[in-house]
Amino acid sequence: MKKALITGISGQDGSYLSEFLLDKGYDVHGMIRRSSVDYRERIAHIEGHPHFHLHYGDLGDSMSLLNIIGKIRPDEIYNLAAQSHVQVSFDVPEFTADVDAVGVLRILEAVRLTGQVKTCRIYQASTSELYGKVEEVPQTETTPFHPYSPYAVAKQYGFWIVKEYREAYHMFCCSGILFNHESERRGETFVTRKITLAAARIAQGRQDKLRLGNLSALRDWGYARDYVECMWLMLQNDKPQDYVIATGRQHSVREFCMLAFHYAGIELEFQGVGIEEKGIDKNSGRILVEVSSDFYRPTDVVNLCGDPTKAMTELGWDPSKTGFEELVKLMVEYDMKKIAMEKAETKIRVNLEEYLEKGVVK
Ligand code: NAP
Ligand code: GDD
Repeated sequence: MKKALITGISGQDGSYLSEFLLDKGYDVHGMIRRSSVDYRERIAHIEGHPHFHLHYGDLGDSMSLLNIIGKIRPDEIYNLAAQSHVQVSFDVPEFTADVDAVGVLRILEAVRLTGQVKTCRIYQASTSELYGKVEEVPQTETTPFHPYSPYAVAKQYGFWIVKEYREAYHMFCCSGILFNHESERRGETFVTRKITLAAARIAQGRQDKLRLGNLSALRDWGYARDYVECMWLMLQNDKPQDYVIATGRQHSVREFCMLAFHYAGIELEFQGVGIEEKGIDKNSGRILVEVSSDFYRPTDVVNLCGDPTKAMTELGWDPSKTGFEELVKLMVEYDMKKIAMEKAETKIRVNLEEYLEKGVVK
């Protein structure tokens, strides 16, 4: 039975990759950090599986990495752990550099120092943010990099150190240059999930307005569940190589917003420009979306669109499994149910408190 180690297992991609590898018959090991609330929502449903094991460690802690990698001796490592929020990287640039840049080096060295150069294959979660202030559209494996945030600069180091270890030590290590991929498990402060949750809350009377930053930013959004297959395919390849993983389609934040509200039953129209732009409910005339400079970044990446031709032809990967409309729909449907459940729970709690107060229930 093959053994895989996933860092960042509690994140969006880590949870889908765990399910994917368990289905393939792997023994899956995951690295987790201690947290004050020890509940890992995205992987709670697989904890307890006989081939699913969790280990405490941290990308900032070489000793934990040496210990975990030396003990498990995995056939494959998927390094998904990162401080992954671009805007937050402007607030915590040093931590972001330590984890997203030096953390990659620590993994590579742990593999090398424990004598697993020939036996262990490594996938590095790289990113379209490397193209940053883009120099061509669409972006391919040969497009020059121009990282445009502390996050992207750190990930750039990760990309190059993986390439360096591949050439210097002939390690099987490669980077997936993944464009944005979303899902119902996406972190709630990334723009897509922030929008789908807000659309669901507004439609059910639980929120008045949504405040966003740059509505004109363009992204190539895919479905995370489809993208984890590519990580695995890259490690099954004959040669270690880097691949762009994307859909080849581009949409603006504004378009995402209009579609999400549409699936929540609200037709929006946008009026105005820049900070004055508003998203207005066509039926009621209410302003539901406003622009706030709080969500502007010191430097923003505004024109991402990937060309997945190499992954399609060499890995046989299909980027068209889940289209943009379907992705937005499934995220909104999930959040509509989530908010309805939260409403129901609140109602039950309030009723129960009233009954307790009146002494109806003891
Ligand atoms: P995510 O949901 O934010 O998950 C990040 C994971 O990293 C979490 O499990 C987190 O653990 C863990 N982590 C953070 N700091 C750590 C540290 N110091 N030591 C160990 N673990 C740490 O991210 P994602 O969307 O799944 O993305 C996975 C990877 O792909 C990331 O490296 C991201 O930068 C990269 N990427 C993502 C996209 C995308 O669109 N999703 C695109 C390109 C590249 P906690 O749960 O304890 O916080
Ligand atoms: N988060 C956020 N919140 N972004 C907003 C908002 C807002 O309120 N309003 C507009 N945006 C714009 C951002 O300025 C950015 O241009 C775009 O929406 C997407 O932002 P995010 O969803 O935060 O994602 P990201 O593209 O910056 O980063 C994600 O994708 C990268 C791949 O390109 C992350 O998953 C990274 O880890 C990943 O590498």
